[in-house]
Amino acid sequence: MLDNTAAESMTIKLDDTLPEPPEFIPGIRRAPDRGFTLNPRETELALRNALRYVPESLHVALAPEFMDELRTRGRIYGYRFRPPGRIYGRPVESYRGRCLEGKAFQVMIDNNLDFEVALYPYELVTYGETGQVCQNWMQYALIRRHLEALDREHTLVVESGHPLGLFRSPPGAPRVISTNGLLVGMFDNQDEWHRAMQLGVSNYGQMTAGGWMYIGPQGIVHGTFNTILNAGRQRLGLGDGEDMAGHLFLSSGLGGMSGAQAKAVEIAGGVGIIAEVDESRIHTRHEQGWVSEVTSDLGSAFRLARKAMAERKPLSIAYAGNVVDLLEYAVAENIPVELLSDQTSCHAPYDGGYCPQGLTFEQRTRMLADDRDGFAEQVDRSLRRHFELIRTLVDRGTYFFDYGNSFMKAVFDAGEKAVCRNGRDTHDGFIFPSYVEDIMGPVLFDYGYGPFRWVCLSGRSEDLEKTDRAAMACIDPDRRPQDRDNWAWIRDAGKNALVVGTQARILYQDAEGRVKIALEFNRLVREGEIGPVMLGRDHHDTGGTDSPFRETANIRDGSNITSDMAVQCFAGNAARGMSLVTLHNGGGVGIGKAVNGGFGLVLDGSERVDRIIKSAMSWDVMGGVARRAWARNPHAIEVGAAFNAAGGDHVTLPYRVNDDVIRRILDTAPRSEVPEGA
Ligand SMILES: NC(=O)c1ccc[n+]([C@@H]2O[C@H](COP(=O)([O-])OP(=O)(O)OC[C@H]3O[C@@H](n4cnc5c(N)ncnc54)[C@H](O)[C@@H]3O)[C@@H](O)[C@H]2O)c1
Repeated sequence: MLDNTAAESMTIKLDDTLPEPPEFIPGIRRAPDRGFTLNPRETELALRNALRYVPESLHVALAPEFMDELRTRGRIYGYRFRPPGRIYGRPVESYRGRCLEGKAFQVMIDNNLDFEVALYPYELVTYGETGQVCQNWMQYALIRRHLEALDREHTLVVESGHPLGLFRSPPGAPRVISTNGLLVGMFDNQDEWHRAMQLGVSNYGQMTAGGWMYIGPQGIVHGTFNTILNAGRQRLGLGDGEDMAGHLFLSSGLGGMSGAQAKAVEIAGGVGIIAEVDESRIHTRHEQGWVSEVTSDLGSAFRLARKAMAERKPLSIAYAGNVVDLLEYAVAENIPVELLSDQTSCHAPYDGGYCPQGLTFEQRTRMLADDRDGFAEQVDRSLRRHFELIRTLVDRGTYFFDYGNSFMKAVFDAGEKAVCRNGRDTHDGFIFPSYVEDIMGPVLFDYGYGPFRWVCLSGRSEDLEKTDRAAMACIDPDRRPQDRDNWAWIRDAGKNALVVGTQARILYQDAEGRVKIALEFNRLVREGEIGPVMLGRDHHDTGGTDSPFRETANIRDGSNITSDMAVQCFAGNAARGMSLVTLHNGGGVGIGKAVNGGFGLVLDGSERVDRIIKSAMSWDVMGGVARRAWARNPHAIEVGAAFNAAGGDHVTLPYRVNDDVIRRILDTAPRSEVPEGA
């Protein structure tokens, strides 16, 4: 396609030698066929799009291979370009590069693709069924080369995994700006995205998959622990200082994020039964010590649970089977279930995220390839039954919450309108709360507490221990109950053996805590106590994500359908010099349903980085708190007022509106003709 001049003008490109055919290690999970639905003209386009990454001399050999991948896998991964063997996040100094940031991002990308960490490593899927680092292995190889060439006077621009190029920028600018899956409004839906994905022009980055900031299931354990514990406090009357000892939590999924549930319930002191249909996921979690017992017998699952509850011992049990069967059993046997949730990948139920009742995991995979329509029907039927069982349990006293996996939206899409608050459509929300509405929103996000995280780029566990201790010393456990929980979390983090992949840590913190800890870490780097550190967060945070069914589910001024906050957060982080800034469509809830962004900040010990920490870390959180305050969320107003009082920054806070003033006006004003909820 390129004439010689254009090809020769490029100094960063793929080699013209054909890599060896790929080898797949048996037992490593493989992504299901994503469904090939392109017409002949589009198929031609997809082939041309993939081949434009490689020198023309290789096209004759590669074209049939790419065609085969497209037909059998629903997309072109370019398997041949995957470096053979294990990929993992190595110590930063073992990478080639012209600046620390360029090397640090290679660590992060490789960690996202580690066999131990990633869901479908050969298909570049890190977690959440479809969340990819980039679209294909040609992009991976090219991104690597660009990162090796990156210096402090350029920014690498990545569009849905495609490295667009290196562009001159000041030393204080981000070194990488990356976007994933963004679509123009009228095309912002699953069908158009499915086409764009097959054409090789769009990537589903989830949050930290395409944001290169995934740290294995640990990344989500702290949030899950907070959620389960606070659900217990709110619904089971646990007092301050009490844990979940003697209480039962039921859920599903031992995958990328859901895999945190078993560990979190044990750390919270309780008993959990988690259903999982994919035996390989159970095996991984069991081997990692993230789930304690495994059984495919429903009777023994509940017997084990009852015993541990009676002894008030923490225990996690993987039930190898379908969650709907688990609930059928609990209902039939009249077993009291205190807390209940679901973490199947319901943001993508028809792409394999939800295994219907009656199909084994293997049958689900075959049916996805052979009969997608039939599969969708089974998914719908199973979701409706699943919902019915939950309703029965809730009527008997269970507290069910949606775990941000779009479960209730999936039930609605399956044809069940009773899941809607207004019995008709989703405008007024759903009958069951989401964990953000009841727990994460008011207890954490409104204060600015969110999933702050770091990776010790040296790969040394001693560095992680030092950062754990330093972070603990920055927290005053008596400031708020949340601080006490966080302090206890970091105190026990090492003991809980949470690391899978790189030497990383998650620690929920508010703006003040994040700035304090970041400055302390940078000091330790400066003084040579530890090697460089990558700071980041999950996008699932106070200000990084607009998602009306999840992160912004407790924003009730009507602005939950807007995505200004996430875009401003991204732009503001770029303006303040974060090393990496990312903005994505979808995240954990699916295309068109959310906009989310994240960042990475490389601590190199410099004063330049101190300055970035003071402005950017604070902005990243307080932009979100300010928006939540403007939506009249009381805790956020409290935090916003304290922020103003501290000086230096200033946020706009809402005046209180007297109820009587509104009522008087509404009682006398002519009424709209439009019926409620229409
Ligand atoms: N943990 C969190 O804090 C959190 C937060 C927000 C959203 N989520 C959402 O939770 C979902 C799960 O995320 P993930 O990264 O673990 O995805 P994943 O795809 O890696 O894991 C989901 C697991 O559910 C299993 N599963 C599917 N159907 C099942 C069924 N009927 N019965 C039993 N097991 C079944 C799958 O085999 C899979 O292992 C996603 O939709 C994600 O967006 C999680």
